[in-house]
Amino acid sequence: MPGRDDTPILKTSHLLGIEGISVGEITALLDLADDYVTLGRSAEKKLGLLKGRTLINLFFEASTRTQSSFELAGKRLGADVLNMSVKTSSVSKGETLIDTATTLNAMRPDILVVRHQDSGAAELLSRKLDCCVVNAGDGSHEHPTQALLDALTIRRRRGGFEGLIVTICGDVLHSRVARSNIVLLSKMGARVRIAAPRTLLPADADRLGVEIFTDMRAALAGADIVMMLRLQQERMAGAFVPSTREYFRFYGLDREKLKLAKPGAFVMHPGPMNRGVEIDSTVADDIEVSVIQEQVEMGVAIRMAVLDALSRGLAAGGRNAP
Ligand code: NCD
Repeated sequence: MPGRDDTPILKTSHLLGIEGISVGEITALLDLADDYVTLGRSAEKKLGLLKGRTLINLFFEASTRTQSSFELAGKRLGADVLNMSVKTSSVSKGETLIDTATTLNAMRPDILVVRHQDSGAAELLSRKLDCCVVNAGDGSHEHPTQALLDALTIRRRRGGFEGLIVTICGDVLHSRVARSNIVLLSKMGARVRIAAPRTLLPADADRLGVEIFTDMRAALAGADIVMMLRLQQERMAGAFVPSTREYFRFYGLDREKLKLAKPGAFVMHPGPMNRGVEIDSTVADDIEVSVIQEQVEMGVAIRMAVLDALSRGLAAGGRNAP
């Protein structure tokens, strides 16, 4: 069970992306998160590691899973948690990201969790503020805690990553989940495939070190894990696919296409799902193959591990030490 252990886990005082962290740091976070899964399954779910600390959730984009799991993770570690609702804040009156964050910073939070529609927003704040910053998704760039929770789900089921074939399918172009997962899974030794219509493949796809497919069936052949992505209509100006019905025919995961993957392959999705667009309900709701709800549980554990790791830096006399 986690306790007061101050062994450093992260070399920096922020978590901005998977790009900036090492295999050793990832492994240490996953190990710690395993303990938090156990804690989350017990009756007494609270620890006092973050007692006296303040965590602010600043979300400029909609979120169900990420925001609520950061809130729960902070509370289970004993922190005071403030959820800033951007809709009712002065952001709606035109206040900029920096002004809003500087105002919150003056209230002396220890950790700021931020989600923003612009790539690089979390990194920008980390340079301006004197608290720890966690990137909860910046535009189409990175979503490190999602990749970590996905990795935790995979490692608990498969024991490791070496040699696993992971097919990531759908709107890879706009997906920060795909980007963070590609970086993490490649670092850990998995073989990553991406499958999407040409219009939804990133321009730099051939520099990502992945196998690229426009034929989903070919990408599924022999896959150990199938990770589905939502069509991110909110990031599309105009149509990137002819129709959602046609999209489902070629890129939607149903039972028939899933048969092409390895026997025992499992299906992941970060949520929110668009049923009948990228995934069929018969697959999404089948607990024999779908680990979607498990991913949500792992999300709380990973966020507890990340907050715990960052608080070790604070305890060791980080910039925000009392
Ligand atoms: C993802 C996100 O916001 O990037 N959702 C999540 O965090 N669980 C994926 C998405 O919005 O499709």
